[in-house]
Amino acid sequence: MNPIIIVVGARPNFMKMAPLYQDLKKRNLPILFLHTGQHYDKYMSDVFFEELGMPEPDIYLGIGSGSHAEQTAKIMIDFEKICVKENPLMVVVAGDVNSTIACALVASKLSIPVAHVEAGLRSYDRDMPEEINRVLTDQLSDLLLTPSLDANQNLIKEGISKEKIYFVGNIMIDTLLENAKRAETSKVHEELKVKKRDYALLTMHRPSNVDEESVLSGIVNALEYISKNITVVFPAHPRTTNKLKQFRLYDRMKKNANFVITEPKGYLDFLALTKYAKIVLTDSGGLQEETTALGVPCLTLRENTERPITVEEGTNKIIGSKEENIKLEYDNFMIDEKQERKIPDLWDGKTAKRIG
Ligand code: UD1
Repeated sequence: MNPIIIVVGARPNFMKMAPLYQDLKKRNLPILFLHTGQHYDKYMSDVFFEELGMPEPDIYLGIGSGSHAEQTAKIMIDFEKICVKENPLMVVVAGDVNSTIACALVASKLSIPVAHVEAGLRSYDRDMPEEINRVLTDQLSDLLLTPSLDANQNLIKEGISKEKIYFVGNIMIDTLLENAKRAETSKVHEELKVKKRDYALLTMHRPSNVDEESVLSGIVNALEYISKNITVVFPAHPRTTNKLKQFRLYDRMKKNANFVITEPKGYLDFLALTKYAKIVLTDSGGLQEETTALGVPCLTLRENTERPITVEEGTNKIIGSKEENIKLEYDNFMIDEKQERKIPDLWDGKTAKRIG
């Protein structure tokens, strides 16, 4: 039987594909597990494979970093060769990273059916490279697997036939629930010398927040203000570390005892940090969902979100990236911490089963 190729490339793909890989394997389906190598560091990639029980990839393309065109094009060239050789039954891609669009485009042109996990999310902001990846991947896909019903509506509005769309729930929450107990054994709080529920957890890596000096230094000013009130734990993405150093902001943060800056954390340590944060500040997509699932307040340092359900039903608030606004919203949060929130439908740990 021809194989099903499961594609991963960047950090946010790993927790989406681990449960699906395991479910399909249990059914004895012929799987080829392919890693493009878009992310390649120990902390951005390897640790997730180890912790989430994923095997070494069957195929590793080793693409690495580059401009968008370079990275996407290199993946396409190599992935086409794999598809021609293996003639897969189907290619499964996840999320919105460059590896997602690159592999979907190659498969689609070879008339290989494409399944898109986490289809239909829209920020309606084409300045985000991920938005372009989402829209195009969905147009190319034959099976669109959505995490929430707003995603179904977005796809229907774009003319995608209802028959191709399946509301399956949020697969990342499968991984979160599956690993919640193991995360309790994490020693990360002792390692970083922080007290549970007594720190703010920060992640940021969006080009719109970190690539321009004026924007990044405004955010750092706001974070310094927050750090006077609470310890800020910051597992820094390599892109952000590089930019902070380039703009001479890194040493200033490092010297501040109320910032705990670390390398990016593995899945279990990061889950433990999220669960026991008093508040999370982030520009990540996935973390907006994980905080909603865990009931942890989240302030999102972006102008919009492709995951509006985390605002409507969950714990998320979109606050933008301007210094004064971040300060104001943090102060508001400290005055009025309690809110009634719910966990969205089908964020229940059973999404991989529904897909399989
Ligand atoms: C990518 C995704 C983004 C996702 C993020 C999670 C796209 C368009 N963007 O952004 O949606 O939220 O991953 O991390 O696909 N680097 C390393 N080691 C690595 C990987 C990257 O040092 O293992 C550094 C390199 O300097 C690289 C930079 O990070 O140039 C950016 O990496 P890249 O994969 O291009 O994009 P991300 O910003 O990580």
